[in-house]
Amino acid sequence: MRTDNVSVVLLHEYPEYAESCANLLNNQWKRSFSARIHSLNRCCKELPDSLVLLEEENGQKRVIGHSRLTRVLEDDDGCWIESVVIAEDKRNKGYGKYLMNKTEEYAKELV
Ligand SMILES: CC(C)(COP(=O)(O)OP(=O)(O)OC[C@H]1O[C@@H](n2cnc3c(N)ncnc32)[C@H](O)[C@@H]1OP(=O)(O)O)[C@@H](O)C(=O)NCCC(=O)NCCS
Repeated sequence: MRTDNVSVVLLHEYPEYAESCANLLNNQWKRSFSARIHSLNRCCKELPDSLVLLEEENGQKRVIGHSRLTRVLEDDDGCWIESVVIAEDKRNKGYGKYLMNKTEEYAKELV
């Protein structure tokens, strides 16, 4: 995989990617679109938050991956990673591992 044209951003800082994330998630796990958007719009620094994997091609950014960090009940220092998904045409190229590493790095920064 190339890493020079990919970046990871936090959804609470880039809410404009919520719709693309909802589509990516819904392609994998069908759910009401508005419920998805509602849940994604709750992203914040204190969690839950989503990490968005972007690929840039010809000046256009496309959401190719998503992961979500959520708090663990009754454990103020804990969080767990859910809803890791890579766009179907981008699978088995190392993007999933890349996003998981970035998600773990970010989770460690939070504690
Ligand atoms: C699972 C998923 C995120 C992996 O992303 P990816 O970009 O295809 O994975 P990578 O190419 O980075 O592979 C990373 C490693 O995970 C393994 N892997 C990939 N998909 C896997 C799967 N479905 N189950 C188990 N292992 C898997 C690969 O074999 C690879 O192992 P290696 O490093 O020993 O070679 C992707 O297949 C996906 O979006 N699947 C549908 C959603 C899903 O099942 N998410 C996980 C639960 S939330």
